[in-house]
Amino acid sequence: MKIRIALCALFLSGGVVNAPAFAQATDTALLIGGCQGCHGVSGQGGHGIPSIKATHSRDEFAALMRAFSANERPGTIMGRISRGYTPEQIALLAAHYARPQ
Ligand code: HEC
Repeated sequence: MKIRIALCALFLSGGVVNAPAFAQATDTALLIGGCQGCHGVSGQGGHGIPSIKATHSRDEFAALMRAFSANERPGTIMGRISRGYTPEQIALLAAHYARPQ
């Protein structure tokens, strides 16, 4: 019981899972960490995963993410993933991955 209370306190203090901090993350390196596992270190794609490396303009990239989150664009996984990011975070991701303006 004591262990459960301690774990609960640790969780509530943000010691184990700090989800709110991640939800507000504005650090691009942290954000792209959530994409690299599938899209590759530089977004090059492969193994059936499309490249996102300089394949779209910033506006197109952000629009794609919005379309996934609104279920307007079919996908296996991107609907769920895109809903995990704020518009500000999507703008940072777009700035990172999109073609140079
Ligand atoms: C679990 C694997 C996975 C992760 C993690 C992932 N993606 Fe994807 N992504 C996919 C797959 C698969 C597709 C193809 C659409 C689908 O099936 O959902 C895709 C498609 C896309 C597309 C559309 C590309 C195009 O030209 O059609 C964009 C943009 C994109 N992902 C951005 C991201 C970003 C940004 C992140 C990180 C926040 C991310 N993805 C994380 C698997 C992933």
